[in-house]
Amino acid sequence: MSNKVCQNRKLCMFGVSLVILSLIVAVLLGIMAGPDSPLTWLLLGVLLVIPYIHKKMTANRFLEWSDEYSVGIDSIDQQHKKLLGLINSLQTAIDYSTGDEYEQEALNELVDYTKTHFTYEEGLLEQNDYPGFEPHKAQHAEMINKVEEVLAEYSKDPESAMSNAVEYLKSWLINHINGTDKQYSSYLIERGVK
Ligand code: FEO
Repeated sequence: MSNKVCQNRKLCMFGVSLVILSLIVAVLLGIMAGPDSPLTWLLLGVLLVIPYIHKKMTANRFLEWSDEYSVGIDSIDQQHKKLLGLINSLQTAIDYSTGDEYEQEALNELVDYTKTHFTYEEGLLEQNDYPGFEPHKAQHAEMINKVEEVLAEYSKDPESAMSNAVEYLKSWLINHINGTDKQYSSYLIERGVK
């Protein structure tokens, strides 16, 4: 269930509960029909296919590290991997309606670590007189401002504010790593940064 399909999380959770209930009823019917009935095997087939369909439907909501995201500097790759993991944790908190407190905690952890990463990266760029330092730093600041803007809507519509924040962060992070961050790779590697 992508966010587009499942905009209302309470409705979405109700749908999931309904599917689970239907499956329990289907299993009971299958048991009652016995092993000789084609209905039993049909229901068994449906049960086996559901985890596969669920995986396919949720896969595009979670970020997965790929070597193509590597900037060639291990310390930064490790931080980027951690950021992806924190975004996935936030997505999980949202998807499973874990509650405002847990969602806020996941988001705060993500924003705090993002700031830590930006400080580390900017330090390396500045220490090495990277020519694109200022524009790069400006992109980081813009991202933090945008997240704060989105979250300012939280009191009006928490559900939509949180979903918008995670969607923005996913898209921004992948584009930034693959674009702006990669531009400094060879410059820093030539200066011995690891
Ligand atoms: Fe890895 Fe420029 O953030």
